[in-house]
Amino acid sequence: MNSLMQSPDLLVVDDVRKTFQSSQSWLHRLTGQVPPRAMALDGVSFHIPRGTTFGLVGESGCGKSTLARIIAGLMQPDSGSVSLLQADGRRPRMQMIFQDPFSSLNSRWRIDRIIAEPIHAHRLRSGKAVRQRVDELLEHVGLSPADATKYPHEFSGGQRQRISIARALAGEPTFLICDEPTSALDVSVQAQILNLLKDLQAEFDLTYLFITHNLSVVRVMAHQIGVMYLGQLIEVAEQNALFDQPAHPYAEMLLKAVPDLDVEARDLHPIPGEVPSLLALPTGCRFQNRCPWMQARCAETQPPMSRAGNSSVRCFIPRNALAS
Ligand SMILES: Nc1ncnc2c1ncn2[C@@H]1O[C@H](COP(=O)(O)OP(=O)(O)OP(=O)(O)O)[C@@H](O)[C@H]1O
Ligand SMILES: [Mg+2]
Repeated sequence: MNSLMQSPDLLVVDDVRKTFQSSQSWLHRLTGQVPPRAMALDGVSFHIPRGTTFGLVGESGCGKSTLARIIAGLMQPDSGSVSLLQADGRRPRMQMIFQDPFSSLNSRWRIDRIIAEPIHAHRLRSGKAVRQRVDELLEHVGLSPADATKYPHEFSGGQRQRISIARALAGEPTFLICDEPTSALDVSVQAQILNLLKDLQAEFDLTYLFITHNLSVVRVMAHQIGVMYLGQLIEVAEQNALFDQPAHPYAEMLLKAVPDLDVEARDLHPIPGEVPSLLALPTGCRFQNRCPWMQARCAETQPPMSRAGNSSVRCFIPRNALAS
């Protein structure tokens, strides 16, 4: 794992910010005031070495999918940049796999057409070679060439996710964004899809951004993990460092709330305290109102991302520094 982490970066995300206009209420209409903007992403920076997986975890609404959409180029950030770099002469290309394998496949298209779409879009092959490639991709994801003439409704959730993966691979990506790719699936099917993604990563030297709110999933999948809270990364560390010695109080509380990660797939458990609104974020640390170790300066100044032990963390009093 360590040697992989020394590979050159394939993706660099630098200081990405994104706000959304909140909807106009009767009060705004009455007073003519402009409604406030919700701060969905606030200065997100990280990089992913080639051939590795960066796992992104965080509670619902913290900005994971917004970040994924910006990285995929489906949405513009207000500021900041995303760079997909070249690896070994391969053209930098990204593809995305979504959570819901039911709505992400066009139900009126046959499987061969669905999988061939990126091949045509990128003009990767033509004529008979397209169908050959589709058959090959179906086999790569554990389906059969005979499935090419079927329609999405003829498949189970897990099989549909395999089709989504085949379609993503058809675009010959170097980088794959997986936004909760298994959270709609049964636990046993989940494991098969995760294994498939791992095998494909090794076989095709793929780099992944893997979004989940499941700690067991991120533990088996990710080399590095970024923990998000209210539009910010609050801790980034290699997988074992985060699980052995989390540095941010929020990360520590999330991990402690899950007593045994190995028993079965575990979702994030709620931790005490209210999550502030993105429309009215506190000055200082965003976690201050839920933090048992809050001090006066935490309310005054926002902690910058800084190094503590084997983590990068936004906290003045990181937990892992106390232990040593
Ligand atoms: N197009 C949009 N317009 C306005 N607000 C948006 C838009 N997209 C996202 N948001 C808001 O931005 C915040 C982050 O949403 P996002 O979907 O990125 O969260 P998430 O971490 O992916 O959550 P989940 O785990 O539920 O998928 C939320 O408050 C959401 O309501
Ligand atoms: Mg999401």
